[in-house]
Amino acid sequence: MRYFNSDYFIYKENELYCEDVKLNPVADELGTPLYVYSKKFFQDRYLEFTNAFKDVNHKIFFASKSNFNLNVIKTFADLGSGIDVNSAGELYRALKAGIDPKKILLTGVGKTADEIRMGLENDVLIIKAESYGEVELINKIAGELGKVAHVAFRVNPNVDAKTHSYISTGLAENKFGIAATEAVQFFTECDKMPNIKMTGIDMHIGSQITTIEPYIEAVEKLSSLVEELRSNGISIEHFDIGGGMGVLYKDETTFTPAQLAEAIVPLFKKLNCEIMFEPGRYFTANGGVLLTEVLYTKSNNNKNFIVTDAAMTDLLRPSIYGSYHHIQPVIKNGEEDIIADVVGPVCESGDFLAKKREISKVKSGDKLAVMSAGAYSMVMASNYNARRRPAEVMVDGDKYYVVRSRETFEHLLYDEKIVDGLH
Ligand code: LLP
Repeated sequence: MRYFNSDYFIYKENELYCEDVKLNPVADELGTPLYVYSKKFFQDRYLEFTNAFKDVNHKIFFASKSNFNLNVIKTFADLGSGIDVNSAGELYRALKAGIDPKKILLTGVGKTADEIRMGLENDVLIIKAESYGEVELINKIAGELGKVAHVAFRVNPNVDAKTHSYISTGLAENKFGIAATEAVQFFTECDKMPNIKMTGIDMHIGSQITTIEPYIEAVEKLSSLVEELRSNGISIEHFDIGGGMGVLYKDETTFTPAQLAEAIVPLFKKLNCEIMFEPGRYFTANGGVLLTEVLYTKSNNNKNFIVTDAAMTDLLRPSIYGSYHHIQPVIKNGEEDIIADVVGPVCESGDFLAKKREISKVKSGDKLAVMSAGAYSMVMASNYNARRRPAEVMVDGDKYYVVRSRETFEHLLYDEKIVDGLH
């Protein structure tokens, strides 16, 4: 089996490093569970991607939903990336990271009036609308603010991205976008609204996509739509193909940005408009690990359990998608492999990091690294069981920085208190 492998998290003399930082002492100092990111991984992925598409006029908007730590966002922005935000909260984070609003895309299938207002007040580059009603609302709010909103419609191309059903988004049955069949009518009507300028077309067909074909199919379908829109007098300045590129968690066959470029650049060249991308996972997933300590080991009725201090509250993906994350010791101990469930302290059988996993025998106090935890990991952490969310560290060469501290008990309460008069 071809397991996840990384140039950024490597063993030197049996000790796991991130870049040039030995991880065991970092975990000892800062405690576990602990997220650790490689800055170089993030930078290399961005440069790899932008380089692959250098022959076409393109812009990249990092999908901050995959990892919205301010320092992660800034790492991409410093290389020239724009940022895709999916809510007022993500917009707030991007602005706090110092991102120029003219490099921000505001996305989301159900934006509230407040979110639209916040986007317009901050002059984001484009608002991507997903229904006719939403554009009517954008038009109204833009009018109140005396602005003209630049809007792209997300069109659902009805293609099968062949990924987990929860993260497949480009099928007609999914909630996202408008139907391609209604696009010409919607674009034309919305373009006539006084405070709206329709500027482009957008798609996002799913996430963790491991073959190029769905992209080709979708781009081909929407390219003919672009031509139809243009012949109806709509000027399509940009075509946003979204994110979705799959990564290696275990033994998947994936494709590189260069391979994607080879397949779709010829289609883009015919379109004569700016091409936009919103990669999230490809930029971040394999740039992060979750370090955790083994609390206990036990074997109930001959079934082995490794109980760790990380739980579904810290890394939800195994519990909700059955996702595979490779788990390896922070210090290799030379022990034989056993089959075990790796489980967390939360009061649910759904709280696991791995099931029936072949893993070297560990003991209480040993540390494990849960790999591929740079995307959709910390961002999906919760406070269930009143657990405090982990700290995050970013490594840069031989230095490391705490980019978010572990939550405290005060975080858990925020301003919640016993209310006078209620008791
Ligand atoms: N653009 C839009 C409009 C999106 O909805 C998404 C992801 C992206 C871009 C970035 O997609 P990526 O390149 O990361 O595949 N929580 C799930 C993934 C949900 C993805 C949601 N949308 C998981 O843990 O696998």
